[in-house]
Amino acid sequence: MRGAVITGVGTALPEKVLTNHDLESMMDTSDEWITERTGIRERRIGGTTAGLSAEAAAKALEAAGCDPADIDLLIVATTSPDQQCPGTSAAVAHELGINCGAFDLNSACTGWVSALITGHGWIAQGMDKVLVVGAETLSRMTDYSDRGTGILFADGAGAAVLEAVDGPGQMMGFDIGTDGSLRHILYADHGGVLTMDGREVFRRAVRVMVDSANKVFERAGVTPEDIDVVIPHQANIRIIESAVQKLGLSMDKTAVVLDRTGNTSAATVPLALDEAISTGRVHPGDKVLFVGFGAGMTWASAVVTWGGQ
Ligand code: ACO
Repeated sequence: MRGAVITGVGTALPEKVLTNHDLESMMDTSDEWITERTGIRERRIGGTTAGLSAEAAAKALEAAGCDPADIDLLIVATTSPDQQCPGTSAAVAHELGINCGAFDLNSACTGWVSALITGHGWIAQGMDKVLVVGAETLSRMTDYSDRGTGILFADGAGAAVLEAVDGPGQMMGFDIGTDGSLRHILYADHGGVLTMDGREVFRRAVRVMVDSANKVFERAGVTPEDIDVVIPHQANIRIIESAVQKLGLSMDKTAVVLDRTGNTSAATVPLALDEAISTGRVHPGDKVLFVGFGAGMTWASAVVTWGGQ
């Protein structure tokens, strides 16, 4: 059996900070309302999806001590590509100076977890090193006169280097799914802005996170008590708290960055993972739960043993 482990993580955020107070002058809202209903205090906006991806990827390669030329495959998970064609991954590969296989993956906020699972599959097929990036510039498709969405979305990127190991590696179990009948609750048309039925997304999000994580626990042969670190998609603190509580997990074990980053869609999970690592919350042998959901509606979860089994 040929498994994989994450050997390096890196992130990138634009310099420009957009605070809740800044939003007060752009729409009918307040810092108090946004903080209480979402947990978000500020977010970052600016840059390009390829530029943020390349910066995060370069940091992940450095953390892994990996020569970019050794990467076999680059997957860029994004729902805000710089161009409709070609894929953002081509520009990222160019900026990194590599010409390995590269493709974009779009499953909205689920994207990075889907790409992580996909990367494990390519390594099982014989590749040695896969670079998995989640990056967004959602500010380019956000209507800042709509207080239902303008307070949530932001820009950023996170990346991880996945390397082959002998034996089962880190993946203990995964789940991935879609309910395409819910496409209308969160979407953006070509050239349009993100349009959302916030209450419905909220309701469905909690449900799919709980169902998907429970499936993964069963497949991985673990119980909630076995989980050391939870890395959830960062959409709204109330969604995270509700799902974590229903799963019998604890917020103490849950990585949260959305107060500073907002919802950066495919970038939120690697941004939260990077923070959990850099604050010393992830140790070899820890069982880490990744759980993502997003437009589609899509979802994906995985339980990994940090450093491999
Ligand atoms: N500022 C002030 N008041 C507001 C704002 C705002 N920004 N937004 C809504 N309100 C008002 C509403 O008009 C309403 O007022 P009313 O009672 O007088 O009609 C009241 O606040 C309550 O509105 P709700 O929509 O019920 O507020 P809710 O508590 O549901 O919060 C929110 C809205 C934050 C959007 C929430 O529904 C949410 O987080 N939903 C999930 C969003 C999400 O996770 N999206 C990302 C999905 S992942 C992806 O793929 C991108």
